[in-house]
Amino acid sequence: MEETKIFLDERELPQAWYNIQADLPEPLPAPLNPATRQPVGPQDLSAIFPPDLIAQEVSTERYIDIPGEVLDIYRLWRPTPLCRARRLEKALDTPAQIYYKYEGVSPAGSHKLNTAVAQVYYNKKAGIKHLTTETGAGQWGTALSIACRFYGLDCTVYMVRVSYEQKPYRKAIMEVYGARVVPSPSTETESGRRVLAENPDSLGSLGIAISEAVEVAAGRPDTNYSLGSVLNHVVLHQSVIGLEAKAQMEKIGLYPDVIFGCHGGGSNFSGLVFPFLPDKFNGKKFRAVAVEPTSCPTLTMGKYLYNFGDTAGFTPLMKMYTLGHDFIPPGIHAGGLRYHGASPLVSKLYHDGYIEAQAFDQTDVFKSAVMFAQNEGILPAPESAHAIHAAVVEALRAREAGEKRVILFGLSGHGHFDLTAYSAFLNNQLTNAQYTQEMLEEGLKSVPKIG
Ligand SMILES: Cc1ncc(COP(=O)(O)O)c(C=O)c1O
Repeated sequence: MEETKIFLDERELPQAWYNIQADLPEPLPAPLNPATRQPVGPQDLSAIFPPDLIAQEVSTERYIDIPGEVLDIYRLWRPTPLCRARRLEKALDTPAQIYYKYEGVSPAGSHKLNTAVAQVYYNKKAGIKHLTTETGAGQWGTALSIACRFYGLDCTVYMVRVSYEQKPYRKAIMEVYGARVVPSPSTETESGRRVLAENPDSLGSLGIAISEAVEVAAGRPDTNYSLGSVLNHVVLHQSVIGLEAKAQMEKIGLYPDVIFGCHGGGSNFSGLVFPFLPDKFNGKKFRAVAVEPTSCPTLTMGKYLYNFGDTAGFTPLMKMYTLGHDFIPPGIHAGGLRYHGASPLVSKLYHDGYIEAQAFDQTDVFKSAVMFAQNEGILPAPESAHAIHAAVVEALRAREAGEKRVILFGLSGHGHFDLTAYSAFLNNQLTNAQYTQEMLEEGLKSVPKIG
């Protein structure tokens, strides 16, 4: 009897994060100071990040030890299970084997706690008392609230307004952990007030919420900013997902032919995929696919340019796939995938052809999400459902071709706070917002011209 769940025991928890910067075939283009347009140095980041995270951002060490105090907290839910979706395979009548790495077992309900715990630990070590952040779907804000509670730091979360309204219970859970939750754009910051003056009904975006959180952190010495995705140190912390998944697949003597991860800023995708990529650099054949919504198609339609990570232009300019920092995506239910940019590491590897990207409509994604829930029992987060849908499409292709293949996808979180979205889907109220070439041209107008 083959296993359905592959567990690692506590002693097999990775003791170091994997840093893909050590193995990149070509180094990353340097981030630039937004004012001088010169490469940023550690001092440019020190107003909002602690020294250890700045060091990790630029490190080329292959493995970075996970501090004991972080491991102690990881042990609350890690190692996470690798599961075989046997009932889904049967429903699809596919010869493919489908495995998923389930991060929804964390207390926060998603992968985001892997980096939240690490970031709060290093901020506490640096004497910081208060962290600010943005959140889209609310998953990141929840994770940071929990981590701040564990380490005794205050936490302010700027929550994208459309999600704040769609998901009232997300606000409540963050408050349970002691965070203060502010709908963004808000009147608390210059950046928020500027957006509201132009459009009082703004739905908000991750780019705007980041500007608000950075503005507050930059102005107060006891306060730092914490980002839930995109940056190299976030991607580094998420590597525990792929390190475990690789060890779990090895235990059953398998290697994936294709790996899918949903893509917002790139952290769960790269967390799952990057520990496998050195094999690809050494010639092994498998596919790694980032999956995004057609309404916010950063990788599949965006351009590889230097751009800001936020709307107000406070962050360093990073070379990444972007739809333009002013772009406000439609209020789709996968709030965590509404980001105009992409991780510079994911962007570079996509640009150089090591990884692929696909985009899907939200109604198709929800169909697969419901199918997954009905067969496997787990209600997925709408973000994660993008990876499920890509896996379903791949499994159906395998059926048509009569080919066996091993599919691995990241189930980055559960959808227990996304029931408004599921109700809307079940009542045929979901629509698909199409992104057009004209929208891209408009969005790129304000992107600085560099190089
Ligand atoms: C469950 C879940 N998966 C994926 C994402 C997308 O973010 P990232 O691309 O950083 O993994 C989010 C973002 O909020 C999320 O909540």
